[in-house]
Order: sequence, then C-alpha cells, then structure tokens
Amino acid sequence: MSEFKAVRGMRDFLPKDAEKTRHVEQTARELAGLYGYEEVITPVVESYDLLTAKAGEEIRLRMYAFKDLGGRKVALRPEFTASIARLMATKLRTAPKPLRLFCVGSLYRYDEPQFGRFREFWQADYELMGSSKPEADAEILILMINLVQRLGIHNNYLKIGHMGILRGILSQEKLSEDQQNQIMQLLDKKRWEEALALVKGLNVSQQCLATLKNVFEIKGKEPALVIKKIMEEVKNYEKAVTAVENLKEILDIATQSNAKLEILVEAGFARGLEYYTGMIAEAFAPELDFALIGGGRYDRLIELFGGEPIPAVGFAAGIDSMILAMKKQKSTLTMSKEKRVLLMPFTPEMKPKVFEVSSMLREAGIPVEIEVMGRGASKALFDADRRGFAYAVLIGPEEAKTEKVVLKDLKKREQKTVEIKNLVKEIKAETY
Ligand code: HAM
Repeated sequence: MSEFKAVRGMRDFLPKDAEKTRHVEQTARELAGLYGYEEVITPVVESYDLLTAKAGEEIRLRMYAFKDLGGRKVALRPEFTASIARLMATKLRTAPKPLRLFCVGSLYRYDEPQFGRFREFWQADYELMGSSKPEADAEILILMINLVQRLGIHNNYLKIGHMGILRGILSQEKLSEDQQNQIMQLLDKKRWEEALALVKGLNVSQQCLATLKNVFEIKGKEPALVIKKIMEEVKNYEKAVTAVENLKEILDIATQSNAKLEILVEAGFARGLEYYTGMIAEAFAPELDFALIGGGRYDRLIELFGGEPIPAVGFAAGIDSMILAMKKQKSTLTMSKEKRVLLMPFTPEMKPKVFEVSSMLREAGIPVEIEVMGRGASKALFDADRRGFAYAVLIGPEEAKTEKVVLKDLKKREQKTVEIKNLVKEIKAETY
C-alpha cells in the first residue's frame, strides 16, 4: 500500500461523488441558462492583491498564497467575485449592461477541515452587473432559492439583511471603515457581545449603543413587520433609513412574485466579505447549521479595480454544502442512469466488427463499453450484470455474415437476434 494520500483538507472524488458534484454543477449551469447568465472561465491563480482587496480578514488569512517562479505574489482563488470584478474592470469594460455572468469551479481556503468545511471546495457563482435597482436584488434572491429547490432541498429559507443598516449607524457615529469592518467580522460570527464591547470602546454615543443593541434583536419571518420595526429603531440615522427603504423595496418584489420563499429578515445580520454595500443574503436548510449559499450587493468593487463605477449583485452556491443538504434530506437526485451497452466479440476475428458497431451506437448517443479483458461470454456477462449494464451485444461470425448481432436484455433476461441496422432502434425503444 502506498504511503501517498491526499493532502489534509483535500479530497478525492470517486465516481459516485464525482457524478453528484457534476450533476449539481450541471443543474446550476442549466438554471444559469434559464435566467440568461452566460458562463465564463477564469483562472485558479490570481494576483494576491486582487484577491485581498476587499475580501476581509477571514479570507485574507486563509489564502493559499505564494510567489511564483517569476517572483509574482499570487494566490489560489478563495472566491469568484474578485475575478469577475477584474473582468468587468478590464475586458468587459465596454460590454452592454446589464451583464449576467455565471461560473463554476474549485476554490481554496485554508479553513479548519470539519463537517462541511474543506480546503478545496466547489461553488456555482452568479453575478448580475450594471443595475442598482431592487429588481436586480430580487432576481438574485429568487434565483438562489430556485437553485436550492431544483436540487430537491426542502424547508429551505433565506436569511436576509442589509449592510447599509449597520454601516449607516456606525458611519454617522464617525467610525472609520476599518473599525466598521472589524465589527462586521464579529457580527458575521454571531459574536454580538464582543461587537457591542468593541463599539463601546470606540466612544460612540449612548443612543448608538442602545440602537445597536435593539437592532441586533430584531428578526423575524414576516418581512413587512420586521421592516417596520427596524425603521422605527433606526429613524435617527439617515443612511440606515435609506438602507431599510431599499430592503423593503427588494422584499416587496420578491415576496409578491409568487415565488415560494421563506424569508428570515435579520437587522443585525452581517457578512464577513468587505465589499458588500447593500442587501445581503444566505440560504439555509434546517439540517445544517452553515449556509448553503451566500451573496449580496457590492456596488463599489469594480471601480476599486480601476473600472467604471458599476453596481453589482450576486451570490455563490456551495456545491459541497448543497450535496450535504441533499444527503441529509435523502433527496439524492434521480440521476437518469443511461442504458449502457457492453459489446463483445464471440471470436477474436470479430474484434474489428465490435469497434465498428460501437461507433455506430455512440454516434446515436448510446453509451457503449467494449469487452477488453479477453474474457469468455459467461464471465463477461456476469460482470456486466454486476455493473448494471442494460444490454450486452454479442457479435459472432455466423450472425455477422448476415449483418446481425445477438442483443441480450440483461434486466429482462431475454435475448434476440437483431439486424445491425435496427440495433439503435431496438435499444432506444426499450424502456425499463
Ligand atoms: P461565501 O459566503 O464565502 O461567499 O461562500 C459561499 C458558499 O460557499 C458558502 O455558503 C458555503 O456553502 C461555500 N463555502 C465557503 N467556504 C467553504 C469551505 N471551506 N468548504 C466548503 N464550502 C464552502 C462568497 O464566496 C462570495 N464570493 C459570494 C458572492 C458572490 N457575493 C457576491 N457575489
């Protein structure tokens, strides 16, 4: 047995797991198509400065960063948003807006390996650029939940907040962006008390402390009611009021859209990434205590990278997290198992004919494997059965003379002699 194993936090995906990952990826891609999000592929390695610009402490300290052989400081991407913003500031600068982009792939964060947390993980990412309107945010929320629903994850809900509420209060108290970011990091980890203690130490007014304390308490599943409560609480903070109005508009569109949404509005909700400027959201399944999806509005990231000021909103769905939720809910997708066919020659001289017939079947979209172990019919058929093949096609010299083969239905345990020109039709006609 070799001593080599996968590096800590890294995983091998054996066929069954790989199939699940690719299936979720494909579902996400199809949904992107339905909403008009076009796929882009960006590099795994990006400049360190780009990736750290507004990522936040949490991600910055967990990056796989190194110098390449040319002495450039680079890192493995911990998320897609910075790469997309780079594209918008450069190659897609003049592209007509709105621009809807989708990407999927592996990301790297030196997180502590634990249930649901890996150092290499997969995301499907959707970004809508060019609109600051609430309907763009609403589209993102509905798309988020649509993805979760398509994967058969039930009882899901969205947690929604707005960065402008807390930042509106803190900036009116003259706290710097850095100080605000520190507070947001603590709130992201639900360390409310520590956040309050930190604010207290920064010489803010008593009114501010009281307001924050109350704001942290406001949450609920009736959006209209919660919005009213937040508005009442933050009425002395002008920017926070604007943020609540914006959140109300977004929620009005989303909730009146007839999309089946369960929404938890939380006034003290913050996300660790520093680029968020508006609505923020996470999707949950009740069985898991971490988010399946995270996202929000980031209106100033693209200009930070030297582009035009372009408002943007988007989210990233954790493919691994969604698969875990599916497993918990036993909603393993009914992946349509294709009818696989095993092709085997009865005699060695039939080998070329086997290849000829295999090409014909594959051209018709039928998955075919050729017997390459040189086994006799009974051993090969036993193995085909065990591996779940639907059919075996045996080609012998007698049948070949009249352009025929033997088609064995391994499920029904029946066999018949079929003309080669009718083989595709025969296989496709059968359902089981
Ligand atoms: P995020 O919240 O850092 O957001 O990640 C989104 C999702 O990726 C999480 O909800 C989780 O399911 C999954 N994820 C994150 N870290 C890990 C890990 N170590 N192992 C397994 N899964 C993980 C972002 O990445 C933002 N870029 C989202 C965004 C896009 N905001 C705007 N546009």
